[in-house]
Amino acid sequence: MVKRGVQKRILVIHGPNLNMLGMREPEIYGHQTLEEINSALKAQAEELGLAVETFQSNHEGEMVDRIQQAHDGFDGIIINPAAYTHTSVAIRDALSMLTIPIVEIHLSNINKRESFRHTSLIADIATARISGFGAQGYQLALDGLAQLLSMD
Ligand code: DQA
Repeated sequence: MVKRGVQKRILVIHGPNLNMLGMREPEIYGHQTLEEINSALKAQAEELGLAVETFQSNHEGEMVDRIQQAHDGFDGIIINPAAYTHTSVAIRDALSMLTIPIVEIHLSNINKRESFRHTSLIADIATARISGFGAQGYQLALDGLAQLLSMD
């Protein structure tokens, strides 16, 4: 449980094609839908005494806009930039402006897959990365972030 006081707020950002989870290559990404993942995160956040807001977009610019708004009142961010992990300098630059902890998450183990997925443009600016635990990775990310924030 995070310390008493003002409730800490976590922003969870899901990138392109993650709205298709459940039916998207389930052998790689599992059977859980994004809605199920988000509901589980919200339930877990309540137990941890945190507030979670979720956002998904298939558009790079919309993701940049949402990250910029995270300056306003968020204490941590969990982001799966999906395919933009490997290509987006714009998302990296937006994240670089934040001073709050950033957890990079991937359902699959990106280093075990095609070589173009081995590069993450946000790996070196993220506080931590979770990759390869499937949907459960989101819960691990939230737990980890709660621990980090309770040390403040
Ligand atoms: C992903 C891995 C990316 O390479 C891919 O483009 C995705 C999902 C993952 O969660 O495993 O869309 O970020």
